[in-house]
Amino acid sequence: MERIFADQLGDWKRTCYCGEPRRSSVGQEMVLAGWVQRRRDHGGLIFIDLRDRSGVIQIVFNPEVSADAHEKAKQVRSEDVLGVRGYLAERPPDTVNPELATGEVELSAREVKLLNASQVPPFLIEDDAEVNENTRLKYRYLDLRRPQSLAPLMLRYQMCKAIRDYLDGLGFVEIETPVLTKSTPEGARDYLVPSRIYPGKFYALPQSPQLFKQILMVGGLDRYFQIVRCFRDEDLRADRQPEFTQLDVEMSFVRPEDVFQVIEGMITLLFRDLKGIELATPFARLSWKEAMSKYGTDKPDLRFGLELMDFSSTFQESEVKVFSAAIEKGGMVKGLCVSGGENLSRRELDELTAFVGNYGAKGLAWIKVPLRGPWQSPIAKFLSEKEQGEIRRLTGAKGGDLLFFVADEARVVHEALSNLRLHLGERLGLIRPGEYSPVWIIDFPLLEYDEKERRRVSVHHPFTAPLDEDLPLLAEEPLRVRSKAYDLVLNGVEIGGGSIRIHQVTLQRQILGLLDIGPEEAQEKFGFFLEALGFGAPPHGGIAFGIDRLAMILSGAGSIRDVIAFPKSQRAVCLLTDAPSAVDPKQLKELGIKTVLD
Ligand code: AMO
Ligand code: AMP
Repeated sequence: MERIFADQLGDWKRTCYCGEPRRSSVGQEMVLAGWVQRRRDHGGLIFIDLRDRSGVIQIVFNPEVSADAHEKAKQVRSEDVLGVRGYLAERPPDTVNPELATGEVELSAREVKLLNASQVPPFLIEDDAEVNENTRLKYRYLDLRRPQSLAPLMLRYQMCKAIRDYLDGLGFVEIETPVLTKSTPEGARDYLVPSRIYPGKFYALPQSPQLFKQILMVGGLDRYFQIVRCFRDEDLRADRQPEFTQLDVEMSFVRPEDVFQVIEGMITLLFRDLKGIELATPFARLSWKEAMSKYGTDKPDLRFGLELMDFSSTFQESEVKVFSAAIEKGGMVKGLCVSGGENLSRRELDELTAFVGNYGAKGLAWIKVPLRGPWQSPIAKFLSEKEQGEIRRLTGAKGGDLLFFVADEARVVHEALSNLRLHLGERLGLIRPGEYSPVWIIDFPLLEYDEKERRRVSVHHPFTAPLDEDLPLLAEEPLRVRSKAYDLVLNGVEIGGGSIRIHQVTLQRQILGLLDIGPEEAQEKFGFFLEALGFGAPPHGGIAFGIDRLAMILSGAGSIRDVIAFPKSQRAVCLLTDAPSAVDPKQLKELGIKTVLD
C-alpha cells in the first residue's frame, strides 16, 4: 500500500545539520531534518537515526513527551524524510556512542513532520553495503546519501576551490570558452552537434579549449585558466570518460620551467591541504627517452625500482633463436631482475607468461638464480659462458633472484615489460602505500609515424613547439626532432600534459605540412587560428590537467566514476537517464538528418 506523507515544512527553519549538535548545546530547542537511516522500537521508546550530508543524530520519541510524535514515528521507514522539533538532551552515560560525532547527545522529539515517504530502496544506504556499480549509478541519488560515495565529490569541490584560489593569487583569470565550436584535434573522435539553422553543418564539442586559449594569449590575456568540460569520443578505460573535466592553463612569455613552477606550487598545495602530505620540489624530471628505456612507458610509476635492462647487444649472436631473430629483425631483448623472485612456482611463471601474452609478447623467458648450483631456465642450455657472464654483469643478479626476458619489436617489448613491471610491483608488495612520486616527462618526440594512417602525426598536438636545438633537423629528419612538450605523471597516471606552443605562423605552417595537412586543409580547419598567430602572437605555453584523475588520486577513489556526480558507465551510457537514446523523427527532420539505420 502506498504511504502518503502530506506534511509541509511550513514556518519551520532548520537549526543546523544533523551531524552538528554537541554537548555544549544540551537543553536547546532545535529543528532538524533529514532521512531516516534506521528505526528501532524499544517497547515504549522509538529511536530514529536521522541522516543528512553531515552525519547522523539519534532522535528519541517518548510517548510521555509527545504522544502525537510517537504515533507518527511508528509509521516511519528507512529513507522517509522527516522534520523534528525537540530539545537536545545528553545521553545517559551507558548509551553514549563513541563511533558517532553526535554520540553524546540525542534529540528528544516534541513534534514531528512527515515530509515525504520513500519507496523501499533497492539497496541498503550504508557504507559497507554490497551494491553493484550499475545499480549505484541508476540510483545515484540514493548512492550519494552514503558518506563513502559523497566524500570524493566533496573532496573534488575543495580541490577545485583551492585551485581557483591559488591561480587567482598568481594573477590568472578564469575565462569560459565555447562548447559549440569547431573541432580541435587532440587525437580522439569528436562529438558532433547538428545545426538546425545550417542543415548539413555541425558544431563539434571541444576535445579541449586548446585553440581558444592560445587565441586568448594573442588577445593579451597573459594568464588564463578554466575548469572546463571536454568531450572525447574514444574507447573507454578505467580512467577515461567521454566527457571529463580539465584544469586548462595558458601563460605568455614563458619557458617550460615557468609552467613547472606554477604547477608544482599548485600540486604541493593540494597535497598539503587535502591530504596533509608534503611533496618535495622540484619534482623529478625524466626525458621521454630515459623513461622508455628504464620503464618501457612514458607514464612510469616511480614508487619502486625494478627497472628494465637492455640485453640486445648481449644476445645479438645468441643460440637462443627467439632472441637473435628478434634483434636481427630490428627488435630488441629487454628484461627485469626480480630480487628474491626465485620462489615463484612454475604455475606462477606460466601465469606471468600468459599475462605478457596479453600485450603481444610471444613468450617470457626466465632464469632462476639459485643460492647454489646452476641456473634453472628453459633457455639455460643455449646460453654461452660469455652471455651468462654478461647477464651477471648487467643485472648484478644474486642467489634467489629471478630474471625475465622478452624479445620482440620495441613496441611489444615495452608494452609487455612495463605492464609486467607494474604487475610485479603490486604483486610483490614493492609499492609503499601512501607514497606519491610525481615526475615530469620532458623532451617527447615531436612527431611519430602512424602505420595505420601512413603519415606522421603529432605526439602531443600540432601546436607544440620543437626544441630550439632540434630545429635544424626539421627539414631532413623530422622524426628525430624533440618537442617542448611535458607530461606530469603521478604514480603511473598521466595527470597533466602541455607544451610550449609555436607562436610564429611560418613554423606552424611548416609543422602542419609535415603532418600532411596541406595549405587548403589548414586554411579550412585552422584558418582563423593561423590568422591570429599572424597578428603578434606572444611566445606562450600551458598545460591541462585531468581534474577527475587528480580528484581520484587525492581521494583514493578506485575509479574515475567515483569522483564524478553522474558518470557514464564503462559502455558510455548514462544509466540514470538512459542517454544516449532515440530522438523524435520530427527533430531529425528539422535538423535535416536521416540516419542510415532507418
Ligand atoms: P591532453 O590531451 O594530454 O592535453 O589532456 C590533458 C589531461 O586531461 C586528462 N584526460 C582525460 N581524463 C579523463 N578522461 C579522458 N577521456 C581524458 N583525456 C584526457 C588527462 C590528460 O593529462 N590541450 C592539451 C593540453 C595543453 O597542451 O595545454 C590537452 O588536452 O589527465
Ligand atoms: P620455446 O623455444 O618457444 O619453447 O621457448 C623457450 C622459452 O623462451 C619459453 O620460456 C618461452 O616463453 C620463451 N620465449 C619464446 N618466445 C619469446 C620471446 N619472443 N621473448 C622472450 N621469451 C620468449
